[in-house]
Amino acid sequence: MDARGLVRSARVVGAAQGVRALRSAWRRSRTDADGLPRTRPERARVPGPARGAEPRPGGGVIHFARSSLRVRVAVGGAVFCGWDGAGPEPSYALAGGCPEPDPRAGLEPDMDGGWRVVSERVMVTVSRFGAVELRTPGGAVLRSDLPPCWWGPEDGSSVTRWVQRSRVAPDARFFGLGGRTAGPRLPDGTYRLWNTGPGPFERGDDPLYITMPVQFVVADAGSHLVFHDNSWDGRVQLRQGDVGAGSGHDRPGRCELRMSGGPLRYWVVAGAPARVLRGWTALTGAPALPPHWALGHQHARWGFGTEREVRRIAAGYRERGLPLRALHLDIDHLDGHRVFTVDRRRFPDLPGLASELRGRGTRLVSIVDPAVKAEPGDAVYDAGTAVDAFVRDGRGREVHGVTWPGRTAFPDFTDPKVRKWWGQLYAERLAQGFAGVWHDLNEPTSFAAFGEPTLPRSSRHALEGRGGDHREAHNVYGLAMAEAAYHGLLELRPEQRPFLFSRSGWAGMQRYGGACSGDVTTGWSGLRASLSLALGLGLCGVPYSGPDVGGFTGTPSPELYLRWFQLGAYLPLFRTHAAKLAGRREPWEFGPEVLEGARAALARREELLPYFVTLAHLAHRTGAPYVRPLWWQHSRDRALRDCDDAFLLGDALLVAPVLEKGARRRSVRLPRGRWYDTATGRAYEGPARVELDAPLGRVPVLARAGAAIPVVGADGGIELEVWTPARGRSGTGLLIRDAGDGWEVPEAERLTVRVADDGAPVVTREDGRRVDYPLRVRG
Ligand code: GLC
Repeated sequence: MDARGLVRSARVVGAAQGVRALRSAWRRSRTDADGLPRTRPERARVPGPARGAEPRPGGGVIHFARSSLRVRVAVGGAVFCGWDGAGPEPSYALAGGCPEPDPRAGLEPDMDGGWRVVSERVMVTVSRFGAVELRTPGGAVLRSDLPPCWWGPEDGSSVTRWVQRSRVAPDARFFGLGGRTAGPRLPDGTYRLWNTGPGPFERGDDPLYITMPVQFVVADAGSHLVFHDNSWDGRVQLRQGDVGAGSGHDRPGRCELRMSGGPLRYWVVAGAPARVLRGWTALTGAPALPPHWALGHQHARWGFGTEREVRRIAAGYRERGLPLRALHLDIDHLDGHRVFTVDRRRFPDLPGLASELRGRGTRLVSIVDPAVKAEPGDAVYDAGTAVDAFVRDGRGREVHGVTWPGRTAFPDFTDPKVRKWWGQLYAERLAQGFAGVWHDLNEPTSFAAFGEPTLPRSSRHALEGRGGDHREAHNVYGLAMAEAAYHGLLELRPEQRPFLFSRSGWAGMQRYGGACSGDVTTGWSGLRASLSLALGLGLCGVPYSGPDVGGFTGTPSPELYLRWFQLGAYLPLFRTHAAKLAGRREPWEFGPEVLEGARAALARREELLPYFVTLAHLAHRTGAPYVRPLWWQHSRDRALRDCDDAFLLGDALLVAPVLEKGARRRSVRLPRGRWYDTATGRAYEGPARVELDAPLGRVPVLARAGAAIPVVGADGGIELEVWTPARGRSGTGLLIRDAGDGWEVPEAERLTVRVADDGAPVVTREDGRRVDYPLRVRG
């Protein structure tokens, strides 16, 4: 953390905690000095020349003078490469282990003493010195990895660091790496792989709470995702290439990955973007399906200090006819900020409050921090101690940090028995009437007065019985906490799908829930950062996420508040949230114009609920995120790859949020095809850049010609909003419905939109019959 971060976090943490944090930081550095291996003379190593190879199912192992490389193509087309004997397991990212090898893929000798593995989707060639190239079946190079280099103590006594340098096409663009603020296209620079609670952040601040060694690379030749399955601290340096214009030379895009330890192993999934995400979720697990209510507007506030205050806010929404699907209770409903412990003086009857609100359509969601007040007599601490749940240092002493309750201990979620214990604690939350949970401070954060806001790196972790330290466990801490909660909730309330989202996580976190943005700074730069986070996470397989609308740190101007609200209304997690002292935050506090704008955004969100439900099911089945970059279906359109100020919501809608102060018009880049401005009905032909009105009351949203969008009709039933196909063309739509929060597996209704002879659009099902939903024809 730099000086600015220090001042910011001191403001959030407060003076009393600050002194504790100072002490804890000092203890942390002492513990690490004792607990981490001393530096010894190091030696560098490269693979050396190839000596031979042995075929194995799906590929084979190539032996080099000083290393070996295992290549294995899995059923479904994902390619695994593991150096130095690394296999795909154990892995925190993979869901259900390593997929079966593709029996059709095999190792063959290649030119110049190299080897190759040919499969349906990718061809992998390995040079005599260990350079690996991944090509499309047509032979175009997607990625070429130079031979890696390792450093470690000569005597092999401790971890090995390594670096891998890669090249991609000159026109390639990088995306992903978890939740980053500077994207969605990642500009040249160095990105750290270390989950961090940095205090309030803005666009450009890095890293944040969710980092992932997942790169999504898009180029003319094709797109691919590469995932280095390694949870250690690392850095990714990206340098985009140059396409030589005319006589100029091409310069390839470059990427350098440096890891401070752990195996050098990676997966590559190649193909069109939708196929890549499908392959990625096949590896790492289907995104959890949120219940319907979690697809509506949710409101949080650090500072709902009493039951009365919660009632007052809920009534404020109700009286003004503003839909509110959930209220999130922050740490202030907890006794002494202690997890799983209600402050009964200020919240004497939470179950009563929950059922009263629920009767009016508003659920309660609870914050859950991982750290437990380290004080004998605290029920959770005592129970945790009894099962030896807390992280210890190398000498066996419990590691303590400082969080909201003061001195705290940290459950070791990398231990299955601890996950089991922790999961059962959510019974208390359910008994209080909460419908879902929000995991916070789970990077894990321990407030720091200086140095890193985390646990000592030498802290010991079970790591599923293998044993290891915080250097390896840190990045998967939030993921493992989500796993504990998901399974706990499932066991406790099996008939309902669990709802949780987390501030921190890692590759695979979508199996258990979604992600929130964390403490985005109130300001236009924060607004832009929040769009970048949602799009980037979607490309890393986490489709359900969204920002703290309005920004966390202060009162936004009425204009900024409304623009953020309008953006949030089209993101999967639509939640307003602010810090305790952040000032105004309810839509009616910003004047009549903002109230009307917010009302319109909320009404459209409610109307689109069946579309959001469909997108949630689609994400669950295919990994396709609800919100997608504009290049999703046209990844060869280079101009779209550089476009970072608009996005697609499903296939049907293009949302162009207003991200600049004072803007009342904005330019929008359109992908190919006909698009209708949903406000004016006017048609535009893409690819093009068009100027659209963006008055304060709304942001430009365009609909694809031929789209059939499921919406809520005036009588509460489903209607289809049909956007007339262009002349001679047809269109499509999708509708997936379920009852709300259970487990039935609904049929998908695939729809086709055609124009009949009389010029009116007709919507049919796969069997050719017309749908009986009312049509709302537009365009
Ligand atoms: C952290 C969270 C924020 C929450 C606060 C108090 O800063 O990111 O959302 O309101 O802690 O719990």
